[in-house]
Amino acid sequence: MFESVESRGVDQILALMQAFRADPRPGKVDLVVGVYKDAQGRVPVMRAVKAAERLLIEAEDTKTYVGMAGDADYRAHAARLLLGNDAPQIAEGRVTSLQTVGGSGALRVGCDLLKSLNADMKLWVSTPTWANHVPVATDAGLRTDAYPYFRPSDRGLDFDGMMAHLDAQSAEGDAILLHACCHNPTGVDLSFDQWKTVTDFLVARGLLPFVDCAYQGLGKGMEEDVAGLRHMAAHVPEMLIASSFSKNFAVYRERTGALTIMARAAEDIGAIQGAAETVIRSNYSMPPSHGARIVAAVLDDPALTADWSEELDEMRKRIASVRQTLRTMLEERQVTKDLSFVTDQTGMFSYTGFGPEAVATLRDDHGIYIAGDGRINVAGLSEDNLDAVADGFAAVMR
Ligand code: LMR
Repeated sequence: MFESVESRGVDQILALMQAFRADPRPGKVDLVVGVYKDAQGRVPVMRAVKAAERLLIEAEDTKTYVGMAGDADYRAHAARLLLGNDAPQIAEGRVTSLQTVGGSGALRVGCDLLKSLNADMKLWVSTPTWANHVPVATDAGLRTDAYPYFRPSDRGLDFDGMMAHLDAQSAEGDAILLHACCHNPTGVDLSFDQWKTVTDFLVARGLLPFVDCAYQGLGKGMEEDVAGLRHMAAHVPEMLIASSFSKNFAVYRERTGALTIMARAAEDIGAIQGAAETVIRSNYSMPPSHGARIVAAVLDDPALTADWSEELDEMRKRIASVRQTLRTMLEERQVTKDLSFVTDQTGMFSYTGFGPEAVATLRDDHGIYIAGDGRINVAGLSEDNLDAVADGFAAVMR
């Protein structure tokens, strides 16, 4: 049986990550996978995370199971970071968060949950969207469809196209996947006013928002990055949010995420949480503990929280300054194309508009690895590689 297995193809981001590791060229540059790198090109463990880990080693006195929904303290933090400390929905008992295996795990549990509630469920995703969204949804058995989002002509947002398409094609009961901030892969976000318009539309049409929030704190700030999400949560009756601490706590390999569910009324929470726990139980049974304990230990301690927040601010500022430096360096190299997109797009990613040929030239001739769709991880730019990257980009842009 195994000899007749047909490959479904490897995820392009992870395949490129492997190809980069195997490339022997010394000056190679990795701008593929979405991890934050510091000015020296390292993926550091954050100071507060290290300190929390030291505390945990001492304090941990059991390795017993955590339960299907995960760590209660962590779950409370996850919901408050998204919706706000004083969110009325939390006070009303209409919200529950379940600890998941990373943000991808939250997406999968959310999709499995939707499928278990409605076998015919359709999920709308943006064009383009993160490479793993559609595989996660379709493997969970959901139907998917796409709405316009990115406009290549100005590397901006086709908001009118998005709304017109959803208005014409979506049906009551469909779910719509939105990116809370730092849209992956384009770096092009909805403005606050556009979040309001989408919210009104979802309410009028009876659509369920499923918001992916993987980069909170890396765009404009922890609060600013979820302003649109919070507006939506205040006005829609029900909502799902998949969130991740991979990026804003830099705990990528600890697989630390949460699925937050907002219900119409507190009476609905027990049943919906039970339904989510059922899909968790038959999938991986229970989440691992370490990453969630780190996050909770940091957020339980005001001094550690302040240190984490300061380091996150430094990370965000470095991303913004590197965007500016890249733009200036391209301008210095007489690239005449409009480069405003480099500084207008937010978060870790920039969508360069480079086609497959340019992507291959960058990799083969310059040792610069970027995602196949032209996405670059801006946080992968550092003092050591900026000159080489600017030269390579200028060569394919001229
Ligand atoms: C990315 O988009 O690069 C990250 O979210 C990592 C991943 O798992 O694809």
